[in-house]
Amino acid sequence: MRNKRKFIPLNLEDDLLGHPTTFLTLSEEAQAFVSKIIDDSFSIRFSIDFEPNSNHRASLHGPPDLIDLFTSLNLQVRCDIIADGYNVATPERAAIYCGQPQEFEKFALALGLGNDCKVLDLMCGSGTVSCYLFQFAQERGITIQCSLCDSHCEQLGLIDQNTRLKATDITIADGRGLPYPNELFDAVAIKMGLHEVPQADQPLVLQEALRILKPGGPLVIWDLVPGSGEVQDLLCAQKKKISALTHRESLIFDRFFLREDQLLRLLEDVGFKDTERVSRTYSRDSTMDKLKTEFGGDKCKLEILNSYLRERVTHAIIDEVCWEDSGQNISIMIPNCIYRTYKPVNLEDNIPLTDTSSR
Ligand SMILES: C[S@@+](CC[C@H](N)C(=O)[O-])C[C@H]1O[C@@H](n2cnc3c(N)ncnc32)[C@H](O)[C@@H]1O
Repeated sequence: MRNKRKFIPLNLEDDLLGHPTTFLTLSEEAQAFVSKIIDDSFSIRFSIDFEPNSNHRASLHGPPDLIDLFTSLNLQVRCDIIADGYNVATPERAAIYCGQPQEFEKFALALGLGNDCKVLDLMCGSGTVSCYLFQFAQERGITIQCSLCDSHCEQLGLIDQNTRLKATDITIADGRGLPYPNELFDAVAIKMGLHEVPQADQPLVLQEALRILKPGGPLVIWDLVPGSGEVQDLLCAQKKKISALTHRESLIFDRFFLREDQLLRLLEDVGFKDTERVSRTYSRDSTMDKLKTEFGGDKCKLEILNSYLRERVTHAIIDEVCWEDSGQNISIMIPNCIYRTYKPVNLEDNIPLTDTSSR
C-alpha cells in the first residue's frame, strides 16, 4: 500500500527557501500522546514542498490511518530547517557534476528514447542531462518531451534558456514524493541524485520513479558507486567532511553512496526488473579542486581535508582507489557507473511496495 500524503499550509519566510531537510519535533503533550498510540513499526515523515510563489506546503507521509489521525488532532509542530547547500547555486559547483561526453551518450542511449517519448530528468539540478538529451534527440531527428524536477529553485534557476524553452515542465518537488500522476513517463533519468537523500529515504525515490514510469519503462541511474565497503566508507567520509567544512549541515547527515550490491538489491526490492550496469568509468577526485569549487580558496580547509583522508585511508584500498598524495593534493579514483533497470510490464510481476528502508 502506498503511503498517503496530506498537505498542510505552511508559513515560511522566503529566506528558508531551498532547505528541504527538516527535523520535526512534537510538543511534549503530543509526544506523550503519540507514544501511547503508536509503536516503532510506524513511521511518519514530514517534508516541505517549496513553491516559487512562496505558497510552501508541508506534507506528512505515512500509513493513511495515522496521517488522518495526526491531521485531525491539529498537533502543534515545531520544525527546524537546516541548510543543505543546494540553496546556494553557482555554475562552478554545478560543473562539478558534469561527466564525459561518452558517458552522456551511453546514458542517453540507455533511456531508449523514441519519437515523442516522455522523459523525466529527476534531481536535474542545472539541467545538464536535459540539455544533452535535447541535443541527442535533435541529432537523431526525434522530438522528446522532457520534464525537469529538482527540490531547489536555486538549482533550477541555473537551467539555460534553450533547455528552459524546450522543457515540457520545470517542477520544484522532492524526489521522495513527486507530483506527477502514475505511469506518465516512458523513461526516468537520475544523474548524481540518489546519493543526495539519506539511505533510509532512497527507497522512496525509487518507489516514486517506479510509480510514474509506464510499464516496461526504463529508469537509468548515473552515480558514484563504490565497489567495496572500505571505498564506500572513504567516499562517504570525504563528502561528509567537505559538507562539514562548508557548513552544509544537512548533507553531513544525508548523503549516502550505495555500493553496487546494495543498489541492485534495493532496485529489486522496490520492484524493478532486469537491472544491468551499462557503463563503468573511473573519475579522479582531487582535493585540490575543492579549494576553488568548495573552500573559496581557504587553504586551511584543504589541509584539514587532506589530513582527515590520510587518517582514514587503509592499506587495503590504497591500490583500489589509486591513492596519490603529493602533500598539497590527494587524489583518488572513484567508480562512476550507469545502471538501467525496468518497471515490469505485467503488474502481477511487480512485488508489492513494502518498506525497504531498514535493509
Ligand atoms: C549533485 S546535483 C546533480 C544535478 C544534476 N542531476 C547533474 O548531474 O548535473 C544533485 C541535485 O539533487 C537535488 N536534490 C537533492 N535532494 C533532493 C530531493 N530530495 N529531491 C529532489 N532533488 C533533490 C539538488 O538540489 C541538486 O540539484
